[in-house]
Amino acid sequence: MSYNTIKFEISDGIAAITINRPDVLNALNADVLYDLSSVVKEVESDDSIGSVILTGEGRSFVAGADIDAMKNMTTLEALKFTELGHSIMCSFENMSKPVLAAVNGFALGGGMELTLACDFIYASTKARFGQPEVSLGIIPGFGGTQRLAYVVGINKARELVFSCDMIDADEAKRIGLVAEVFEPEELMSKVIEKAKAVMSKGPCALAAAKRVMNKGRGLSIDAALNLEREAFHGLFGTQDQKEGMKAFLEKRKPDYKNQ
Ligand code: COA
Repeated sequence: MSYNTIKFEISDGIAAITINRPDVLNALNADVLYDLSSVVKEVESDDSIGSVILTGEGRSFVAGADIDAMKNMTTLEALKFTELGHSIMCSFENMSKPVLAAVNGFALGGGMELTLACDFIYASTKARFGQPEVSLGIIPGFGGTQRLAYVVGINKARELVFSCDMIDADEAKRIGLVAEVFEPEELMSKVIEKAKAVMSKGPCALAAAKRVMNKGRGLSIDAALNLEREAFHGLFGTQDQKEGMKAFLEKRKPDYKNQ
């Protein structure tokens, strides 16, 4: 399938999604959100894809939701927009395959929220993160008020959301948002290496770990531990578990089938 506002390429089992509106620093309007919604379905249904990398075209990752598209929204239109944004962020967060953000430049507002829905955030030294919504008279509306606090703690999240300050890649790493920082010219190759490393692990187990760790977040400890027990024993019904343990004992690399 082809898309108007994103580039979509598959190579070596890795799907690269590049948000492609560089003239407006890849701001998210409804067209981008619909394209992202469709591409998530395409990725989920393609068994040849083992992981996803999200990045932006040009000098920005995503400089937020499109302010021009939002400026005259009615409250009802704003409700539909935030619902659409939430559903896209949740679909990345809940995707069974690992999702890695390769943040090449500005990740502001909805852009930072998009990174928060990914499993890993890698950044170039040119990356800048921030939640500037309050300076525009609104609040983060694609999950930032909740996911940011979960990742960096409520005090730091409050500081970022209230101050609207931008932070650089090193500061983002220091507060635990970013996993690693790379030089701009090596960002994609390094993130591809990271994707290959994670894809070499058992895919059924990865999907289960992701599901349990995400779903457990809003639950009581007892309910979350119950989820873990369910997923743990369920994996013993997969070929991947048999293969992973057999390969270890035979001192060879496992040949996982995602079954
Ligand atoms: N929505 C719509 N258009 C945006 C945008 C956004 N979120 N972010 C940038 N753009 C557009 C600018 O309007 C400009 O368009 P123009 O060339 O037609 O004037 C173009 O992208 C380039 O941006 P510009 O501001 O000229 O680049 P800069 O390097 O001086 O500044 C930023 C970069 C990211 C600091 C600045 O663009 C910015 O603050 N953007 C808004 C960030 C934001 O508030 N996001 C949250 C929205 S809820």
